[in-house]
Amino acid sequence: MFHRGDRGRQDKAGRVNRVSVRKVAMFKDKSILLGVSGGIAAYKAAELVRLLVKAGATVRVVMTANAAQFVTPLTFQALSSNPVGLDLFSLESESQIGHIHQARLADLVILAPATANLVAKMAAGIADDYLTTILLATTAPVLVCPAMNVKMWEHPATQRNVETLAGLGYAICSPASGSLACREEGTGRLADLADITEAAARLITPPGLSGKRVLVSAGPTWEPLDPVRFLSNPSSGKMGYALARVAARRSARVHLVSGPCSLEAPPGVELTSVTTALEMQAAIRALAPQMDAIVMAAAVSDYRPSETAPQKRKKGDASEVLRLEANPDILAELGKSKPPAQVLAGFAAETENLVENAREKLVAKNLDFIVANDLMKNGSGFGTDTNEVKILERDGKITALPRLTKEEVAAEVWDRVQRLFSDGSR
Ligand code: PMT
Repeated sequence: MFHRGDRGRQDKAGRVNRVSVRKVAMFKDKSILLGVSGGIAAYKAAELVRLLVKAGATVRVVMTANAAQFVTPLTFQALSSNPVGLDLFSLESESQIGHIHQARLADLVILAPATANLVAKMAAGIADDYLTTILLATTAPVLVCPAMNVKMWEHPATQRNVETLAGLGYAICSPASGSLACREEGTGRLADLADITEAAARLITPPGLSGKRVLVSAGPTWEPLDPVRFLSNPSSGKMGYALARVAARRSARVHLVSGPCSLEAPPGVELTSVTTALEMQAAIRALAPQMDAIVMAAAVSDYRPSETAPQKRKKGDASEVLRLEANPDILAELGKSKPPAQVLAGFAAETENLVENAREKLVAKNLDFIVANDLMKNGSGFGTDTNEVKILERDGKITALPRLTKEEVAAEVWDRVQRLFSDGSR
């Protein structure tokens, strides 16, 4: 996900070296051809261009003649800063960048919206306009995002055509359900743009974790005092969900065990939702033996109330003493029973003595590496979109990363997991 600059290492004297990581956007240096066909959802393609450009892509838009009835080519030209392809027989388009060259240039083709007509033509191998001609000529991965009326979507001919496309190796981002422009309810809305960009990211990300099963834990645990109160911490789940998303992009089979949070699991990730530390322990125990790698980013409560009142506790005049008992240390338990081939990593959230405390946890919990979070730093730790961490490895190496987005930290974590898989040590 990003190019790396000089990698720093801890030297013999045990000092931590800073590492410069040149951050790059998700689609940096990628050339994306966006094919827009003639449906009402064509207006959403304009926002998609903006998102892809923002994520670093060079976007070239090719429209069918019908699409140009819904949105003007000028809109796409302004958003993409590139000429829009429209007419196969236009001397101008062919002299600027011909259809065969367009097909060769693309790292990825996205069709959004793909109408029933476009899907049918592709299934039949018809090439009768600029867009369908490019589609037959390209060898780039193609992501088809159908959008149409619910009856058209459900029609056996459309369903057969979509199956044909999937069989031919096209990736399909299925339409969503809801109210449609034609005032009907059902499946046919263009998929969420976030789901489309995520599917696109998966198509262009090298499948470095292909064939691997990985488990990620995320979020806080809630330890109930009574039916309406609990002990917890401010974990939002962002770090763990970013780990799950990046692993799925790299083609891992991902299991996410999550405490209560408001995030949606990334598409294709198997989610187990839990509330308490004991529930998290049970879920992880059941999955752990089959996993190739486990990364614990959850902020598990170390203690739970000794008793949970069956009804809301009444306010008394006197001060009360709350009796607590220790929760199991899930990661330490995993470290004790770790199969030799499994990669096991944890996080350490610290407010003081970051490296010393993290190193103790690395050793005590038998981890391959630990990601140390300095909670006192701005833009790091709970609830933020960024994190500034040091990664401590078993051989004493310490890498201090600059402040990165949680997805970028996740990429660093999976890079290490991949290195451990490939270095012959397991
Ligand atoms: O969710 P966000 O808002 O994005 O915030 C991210 C985060 C700060 C929660 C995350 O980056 C992080 O640091 N997670 C670990 C927090 C933590 O519980 O640290 P710890 O030092 O108490 O625990 C060390 C390791 O043991 C952790 O991997 C933890 O998951 C694990 N643990 C801890 C206690 C326990 N009873 N069982 C455990 O398995």
